[in-house]
Amino acid sequence: MSKTIFITGVSSGIGFDAAVTLVRQGYKVIGTVRKTGDADRIKSLLGDNFVPLVFDVTDREACQRQISSVFHLLEADGLFALINNAGMTIAGPLEILPDDEFESVMDVNVFAVRRITNLLLPYLGTNSRYQPGKLINISSVSGLFNSPFNGSYCISKHALESMTDIYRRELSMFGISVTAIEPGPIKSEIWAKNKGTLARFADSAYGQILSKADKMIENAEKSAFATRVISDLIINILQNPNPDTRYLVHRKKWMFRLLSHWLPDRMADRLVQKAMSQGDNYRPV
Ligand SMILES: NC(=O)c1ccc[n+]([C@@H]2O[C@H](COP(=O)([O-])OP(=O)(O)OC[C@H]3O[C@@H](n4cnc5c(N)ncnc54)[C@H](OP(=O)(O)O)[C@@H]3O)[C@@H](O)[C@H]2O)c1
Repeated sequence: MSKTIFITGVSSGIGFDAAVTLVRQGYKVIGTVRKTGDADRIKSLLGDNFVPLVFDVTDREACQRQISSVFHLLEADGLFALINNAGMTIAGPLEILPDDEFESVMDVNVFAVRRITNLLLPYLGTNSRYQPGKLINISSVSGLFNSPFNGSYCISKHALESMTDIYRRELSMFGISVTAIEPGPIKSEIWAKNKGTLARFADSAYGQILSKADKMIENAEKSAFATRVISDLIINILQNPNPDTRYLVHRKKWMFRLLSHWLPDRMADRLVQKAMSQGDNYRPV
């Protein structure tokens, strides 16, 4: 029986490492990218056990068409796992971040996750022909803690946490396992994509505090884990008949939990303000 895994956003970072690791472990991977150059590059690296699909997850029609084009690969054995990984952020104060940018983050990180999941759920086991599979959502510590000036991302990842819980409770009757991975900083392209992006708000009332943004990004990146840590965790979840519902991946887990779960709001607010005024990490943990 072939074990097929569907992963969104495999061009770089966590998704790329997961695709490479899983193909090398003997899984067949269907991976989505946005550029044909990325599809060709990864196909030539991974060979026959990698099937690229090229589409932007916000393009509903392309999403439907491209995913349907691989249904025949899933007809016999269904889908072993779906990893919703594609994600992005556009940082900026909630007051002045343009509506279309805020909404595009929600579209990629939330709405597209539901669209893609629903297209593939029959093959994950809502159709009784197939063995129950695993749904893994790449969430974030930003789904647990709200960092100022990264509102679109935090709101989207909180929504993804909620969606993960709801799918888990709705899909348990089919035996489908649903898990959120909640990484802290991981070395990937996401950091470079965001450096310098807050400079456009320099003339706003938030200009002063945002002048330290790039330093904050650099500081957060310094403590980042390698993508391999997430790939190892994914393998662990895939091989575990009863995985946890969520996995926090953070160097200082207990401090993070203290800040996000147990510290009174005002105290957490003060820590965040202090960290920001020093140009320290958005999340002072
Ligand atoms: N790195 C971290 O510290 C960290 C921490 C917590 C959670 N995460 C989460 O991990 C996931 C992977 O991120 P990463 O760190 O590996 O960053 P990354 O290297 O930037 O990878 C993001 C992937 O998502 C794809 N993507 C973005 N927008 C898309 C769209 N509209 N349609 C299709 N694909 C799209 C990107 O494709 P393109 O190359 O075409 O842009 C890329 O393949 C994200 O969900 C992110 O929120 C990351």
